[in-house]
Parts: sequence; structure tokens; C-alpha cells
Amino acid sequence: MFFSYFILTCISVDPSKYLDCRRTPFCNRNRFLTNNIWVAHSDLVETKEDAFSIVISNTNQEIKLIMHISFLLQGSIHVKFSNYSEEVGPKRFDSSKENTIVNQTICNNYNKYSFVKNQSHVVLNSQSSNINKICIQLDPFVLYIYENDKIKLSFNEDESMVFESQIKEQQDNDDDDSHQTVAGTFIFYDNQIRFSGLPSHTLSMNLPDTTHREMIRFYNTDINRFEVDSGMAMYGSIPYIVGHSGMSSSSIFWCNPSETYVDIGLEKTKKVRFISETNFVDFFVFFGNHSSVIEQFSSLTGLISMQQMFLFGYHQCRWTYYSSKEIRSVSKRLDKNHIPHDVMWLDLDHTDDKRYFTFNHNYTDILQLTSEMVANKRRLVAQVDPHLQANTKYRVYKEALDRKFLILEPHSKEIFYGNCWPGRSAWVDFFNPNARLWWSNQFKYSFYVGSSKSLFVWNDMNEPAVFDRKDFSLPKASLHFRDYQDRTIHNLYGHFMVMSTYNGVLKRNDDQNERPFVLTRSYFAGSQKYALMWTGDNTANWAQLKASLIMSLSLSISAFPLSGSDVGGFFDSPDQDLLSRWYQLGAFSYTFFRCHCHHLSDYREPYTLKGEYFDRAKNAITERYTLLPLWYSVMYESHISGHPIIRPIWYEFGSNCDDIDDQVMIGDTLMATPIVTKEQSLAKERPIILPSGSRWFDFRTLLQISNGKKTQKLIVKDETSVPCFIRGGKCLIKKDTLRQSSEAMFNDPFTLIVALDSNQQSEGKLYIDDGHSFNYSKGDYIYCIFKYEKGVLSNTNLNKPIKNTFLEDYKVEVQLIKVIGLNAHPKKIINQSTGKEISFTFSDDILSISNAGLYIKDDWRLVFSF
Ligand code: NOJ
Repeated sequence: MFFSYFILTCISVDPSKYLDCRRTPFCNRNRFLTNNIWVAHSDLVETKEDAFSIVISNTNQEIKLIMHISFLLQGSIHVKFSNYSEEVGPKRFDSSKENTIVNQTICNNYNKYSFVKNQSHVVLNSQSSNINKICIQLDPFVLYIYENDKIKLSFNEDESMVFESQIKEQQDNDDDDSHQTVAGTFIFYDNQIRFSGLPSHTLSMNLPDTTHREMIRFYNTDINRFEVDSGMAMYGSIPYIVGHSGMSSSSIFWCNPSETYVDIGLEKTKKVRFISETNFVDFFVFFGNHSSVIEQFSSLTGLISMQQMFLFGYHQCRWTYYSSKEIRSVSKRLDKNHIPHDVMWLDLDHTDDKRYFTFNHNYTDILQLTSEMVANKRRLVAQVDPHLQANTKYRVYKEALDRKFLILEPHSKEIFYGNCWPGRSAWVDFFNPNARLWWSNQFKYSFYVGSSKSLFVWNDMNEPAVFDRKDFSLPKASLHFRDYQDRTIHNLYGHFMVMSTYNGVLKRNDDQNERPFVLTRSYFAGSQKYALMWTGDNTANWAQLKASLIMSLSLSISAFPLSGSDVGGFFDSPDQDLLSRWYQLGAFSYTFFRCHCHHLSDYREPYTLKGEYFDRAKNAITERYTLLPLWYSVMYESHISGHPIIRPIWYEFGSNCDDIDDQVMIGDTLMATPIVTKEQSLAKERPIILPSGSRWFDFRTLLQISNGKKTQKLIVKDETSVPCFIRGGKCLIKKDTLRQSSEAMFNDPFTLIVALDSNQQSEGKLYIDDGHSFNYSKGDYIYCIFKYEKGVLSNTNLNKPIKNTFLEDYKVEVQLIKVIGLNAHPKKIINQSTGKEISFTFSDDILSISNAGLYIKDDWRLVFSF
């Protein structure tokens, strides 16, 4: 009740309820610090295979640190400062040693290096990496980092590094300042650089200069009614920033899960300053082109787990569908209106009195409901939160209590109780490995009665949200496993929760052969291995619609490629125009495309829209389904490489496109330009930019719009369909038969669009497997490459293990091929393996081949003669 009332009365975020740098002593005292001189001691060095270490001290030698520098085999460098001797005071958490954040195999494999020193410098050289040189200036201490002999980045050039080591007793209340702060400033040497990343915030794609505004804050919190263009803390934290310039990137991962603030300076120097409440100065630096830095960062923090195909379908949610009857009726109405959908969602109120792992009396037939969904080739997802109703009659709470798996108060070491949905609640201590194991076991079908193989999990409120507290979260002094205070590990709570949920959903099936699906609101770098995220409680307005695209793009380039926002905005009720545009944006840019809203908002399922508004939503959703082969293939590539699924335009085309923040690439193939403002929507058109360097073809008419010689600025119409463009030089593979869900399309034939570049070449890949199991890891999948070059269109399977049962059984054809952008009209096309001529038509510069009897699983070559 308390919270509903709160939501009703508040119409924008109340900043007084959340902290900022000014009101946070550790940040305030260190933000503009200067002249904090450190000296490096070249007589106190140690060279080991794994790291070069050197002693650093502040001028009066009060604090002595060791700086370790490692050149990692993967190409990045790891720099860490730790105390010279045993530390006292609250414990620091060694985050780069936590395997679920930083992959220890990657972090412990090194490139060789050598070093030389003179009176003023120590220089490290590593020939095998593009970060080939690091120069340590001794007095005052500064670190200069080079790429191929060119200086790219410095650390502590502004003499503001902080490593507080005040010897103090354990702090035990929120306001106490532990005087364990760490901070440091990086200066980028490329003056053209723009900064992006640092998710999740609602800032612009090119992050703003924060010198004269609030710092960007990382402190996972239940942010209520977040606003656009704000650096206020949100639900999740990835302290990773990308400096990009042309096609090159320099990025930094500040590996620290305690409360962290970031300042960006763009004026005279391009600089980034991180300040964290505690732990270590511990960071990784990556240099390269855009895709190589994300490959390095993803291999360090982890690749997304393979997702089920249904992730990419349409998800229908609301807080709450109050009964299984209502779920059935919504799904039926979607079917009646020919709206494909894959998943129906069960929010908070499906539970028995907000006790997770239970279903209330309106869902007594949950197993029957799930089997009906499965019969229609669909799934269900239900919510499971980390707070437990403090009532010993609730089995899950009682067990956690008995086993001491709950978070504690600092002084008394009694259980910490706070307020959340069920009223008085306690919080599972996911930092405890035994608690994680116990939590995973709760997903066993025998415990979670009513759940089944096709019911998946949504972890909400896992910052964790505590209603009656400052910052809406746990007290900073509350204690986790091994007496770690919340302040040291705060931003990891959701991370450890989703990791245990993922393991539980995996283990609940004896054969462990179904890919888990877990949605989370909170996360840290590394959580992408276990869950996808959504951007939380947004609001139904145009600014939030536009911001949602930037938020997803920013996550995407920060190794968190699976995300989406509530279509329509969680709070309030969008009008038909805004809602229809949100369906369009979601369908063409969110990897996770779900309509969801607050319980006080009007119903907003696609069928609530009328006339052209309905047409917009329906077209967008059905076109999303035609593009599932593209989404799924790019997801697979992201799973093996870390490459983003959706991409900012600069990621593909470099600096001319730095300012484009309302257009998006799906993979490297398709550009979508959805309407993002009310004015555009009223005019039913918007300006777009087609970058030079690629030809561009209209996605629907297949006509060439730009020859790619120079950047084109156009106004394009969007009455009921999102303007989209196929990139010349890429093959787009899709499916054109409309069905009720993604699984229902499994055996449908493909359409291949071969868009040629100016050299008359094109290439594209397709990945297919059974869409749900782990059989792909045994080789059961198809990964093929389509190519057009020198007048030959070919399909080659890249995955040819000795046994590939999937490939053998997959009898699906490419029913329609369209080749666009040909310079000449072919006379004849021969299928080289059969020697037979293939018939085709050629009109409006589009060559079409129908029903050529070409299977995806077979290698084939079609030879064009002119
Ligand atoms: C907060 C979540 O952000 C929202 O999506 C959900 O509907 C409510 N909790 C109720 O579970």
C-alpha cells in the first residue's frame, strides 16, 4: 500500500531521496582534489612474469602502495594499486579476483614485457600487444599508456589520485565515512574523442561534460520515476567508458562495485575521473578498433549465454494480469488480431501474498495454463524477488532464517528487516555461496510448485530495493557473508542473485538441457552471462521513448547486448500515437521487446490501438517476426565474440556519425530509423542520415536509395512502417510467413536478400539451431555464409562436424532469393551442383529466384552469366 500511494503522488523523481556527490563526503572531498602528489620508487620494483610492480608513496610517505601492471595476452592491460602492508578498517573487496566479474583465465594469461629505467622514468615494453609501451614517470607519479608507440592515455597526470588508508574501526552506520576512498583521473590524448557507455543512465549518446553539473553516479537503486538526461544512479552499474574517435576506441573498465562517481571533462582536456567509496584502484585499459575493444572487454567479463529463440519474439506483460483467465483472454485477443506473441508475463500479484515461489488462488491451474501456452508454442515468465516476507509460516523465509542466509544489522548482527512489497521483509545474502546454492535449489519443481520447464524467471527489485531507506536500498553498514559491509560490494547484489537464479533454472531439469531465461533489473559488469535486463520504471512520454534507444545502445557497446525498455513507458498512459511509435521503436531496436506497465496505467495491449495506430503496432510486431533469423544469428555472433547486437551508427561508420543517436543498426546489416519525437510523428516523416561508404536499399521496395559515394541526408515517410535500409554488401535473411509465435515458424522457408556493394559483392551469415537446448554445444547447428562475388552466389556451411544431426534433419529451403544492386542484367543462372538452369525474373533492377529447391543445409553455387 505504502508504495502504491507513493507512486500515485509522485510525478517526477525526488532528488532529495537519492544521494549525489555534493551530499556524499567521500566524493565531495575528492572531486576537485589537486596537488595530491605520489612518487614512484624505481629502486623498489619487482618483475615477475605476471606483473611489474613498483612501490608508490605519497609525499610524506604516510601511505605506501604497490602498483601492479600486467600486459594481458588478450591485448588489454590491468593496473591495480594495493596497500603495501596489511590494511586496517573495513574490508576492501578484491573485485578483479572475482571470477564471475573478471574471467581469471583471461586475467592470468600474460604477454611478455621488458623494462628499462633511468632517473626519471621506468618504461615497460611489450612487443606482442598493441598497447606496446607504458611509461611510468616517477616524480610526480604519472602513468602514460601507448598504442603502437603513440601516447593515447595517461593516468594521474592531474595529480589527483586518491587511495585513502585511514586506520579506523569498522564503520557502522550509513553516514559514516570509511576514509577508504580511491580515485583517479584518465586523460585521453585524442582531441576528437567522444565518450559513450557508463550504463545505465539516461544521458546522451555522447556523454556530456559534467564539470558544472552533478557527477554520474553508480549505486544500484530502485530509482523512482527516473528522468531523462540525468546522471542519477539507476538500477544497474557498468563502470566502463568508451572513448571513440573515427574507427578507433580506447576504453576503461573501472573494476569497483562500491558506490562510484564519474566526472567527464571535455573542454580543454578530454578526461574522465572515477571516485569510489572503497576497494582498490583497479582498472583495465583496452585499445583497438570498436569491435576489438568490445571483444576484449567481453572476453574479460563474459559473453552472453545462448538465448532461446523466444527471447526475440514479442512479450506481453502488465502489472498485473490478475488471473490465469485474464492471461488466456489477453493471449486470445492478440491471436484474434493476428498479433504474434511468444511470452505472457506474470508480475508480482500472481504470488500468494507476495511470497515468491508460490501462486495465488487465481492461478491454481498454472500448470494447465502453461501447457496451453506450450501447445500454442509459447512460454510464461513469472516474477521472483530477493526480499522474503518475514513470516515463519513462509517456508522460503524460514529456511533462509534457519540457515543464516539473510543480511544482518551491523551492531547486533541480528537479521536486517526492512520494508518491501510483502511488508516487513528480510533479504537473502547472495554473497554467501551456500545461500546461492540454496536459492538455486528453490527452482526445483518439487519446491516451486506450479512451475514447469516452460515457465521462466524475472528477478525484480534486486538492487536490492528497500522502501523505507535512504537511497531505497540496504543500509551501507549492513553485513553480508564474511562480514563484508554492503558499502564494499553494493553494486553486486543483483549480479549474485541472477547468477544463482540462472543456475537454478538450469539445474531444475535433470538433463540440464534447456537454456535458462532470466530477466533482471539490477546488474554489474559480468551479469550479461546470466540474464538480460530491462531499463526499469520509465514513463510514458516522448523523451523517454528516445532515451530508451540510447540506453540500449550504450549497454550494447558495454558488453551487455540483451536489453529493452517497457514499451509504452511503465508509469502513466501513453496516447495512441506515442504508444504506436513505441511499438515500432521496440520492434526494431530492443533485443528484448516487451510491453509492460504499472497497474494504474490504462491497458495498452496492441489491440487497444485503433486504425492507423493499430496498423503501426501490428506491422512492427509482424515485421519483427520476419527478421527473427537476423536477430538470432546476430545473438549467436554476440555469444561467441561479444559484438553488440544493436549498434550505434558510429560503431559501423566512424566519426561522421558521432552525433546520430536516433538511428540503429541491427548487426551490421539493417539500419532502422524509427520515429522518436512527437513532431516527427505528427508529420509522419523524419530526417535520416545514410552514411557514405555503403550503398543503401529500402528494406521494403528493395530500391537503391543511396549509392554510398557521399553521406545522404533525407526525409523519409513513416505512416505505418518504420523506415529501414539494407546495407549494400550484406545479405539479409528473413522469413515471410506470418505465424502465431517464433517456434511456429521453425520449419518455414527463408527469403534471402542479396544487396550488392559497388564492387558487386555481398556477404551474410545465418545461424540456426533447435532454438532452446544446449545441443548446439555438441555441434548440432547450422552456421552458413552466403556470398556473392565474381558472379557466383554461394551458400557454404561453416559448421561441418563429423556428426551434425540438426543439419541432417533440417529440411528447410530458401524459397525466395532477391539480388539487388546488380550492374547488369544476367542472361543465365546455373546451379553448379545439378548443372541445371535456374529460372529468374528481373525487373526494376531486382532479380528474383523463386522455388529453386535450394536447402539451407546444403552447400550450393549459382553461377550467373552476363
Ligand atoms: C517494479 C518493476 O520495475 C516493475 O516492472 C514491476 O511491474 C513492479 N516492480 C511490480 O512487480
